[in-house]
Amino acid sequence: MFYPLEKLAKLHDGYQKAFVLESHSLLLLQMDGQRYLIENRCPHMDVPLTTAEQLPAGGLRCRAHGIAFDLPSGKAQGPLANQLDCLKQFPLAYDGDTLGVEL
Ligand code: FES
Repeated sequence: MFYPLEKLAKLHDGYQKAFVLESHSLLLLQMDGQRYLIENRCPHMDVPLTTAEQLPAGGLRCRAHGIAFDLPSGKAQGPLANQLDCLKQFPLAYDGDTLGVEL
């Protein structure tokens, strides 16, 4: 089932917004022209990433303890890379001028 999230015209680099759909907590982001839809949960200690800091080259830093993740791969950066789960990614879906997700 397609769930609309945002009009394409509203997306821009730096965009970052949380959504709750059914039992899913999601975070939609755009940086460097790339769009990402991830579970809004840090794999470290389950803190929401709603206010996470966008970093250059697709990085995202959780503000709770400062761990940075690579959005394209979902992996944590640095020494915890092999100890933490990856960010959970959801495939984006499009319907006309609207971006959403199939759940
Ligand atoms: S909960 Fe995100 S870095 Fe600890």
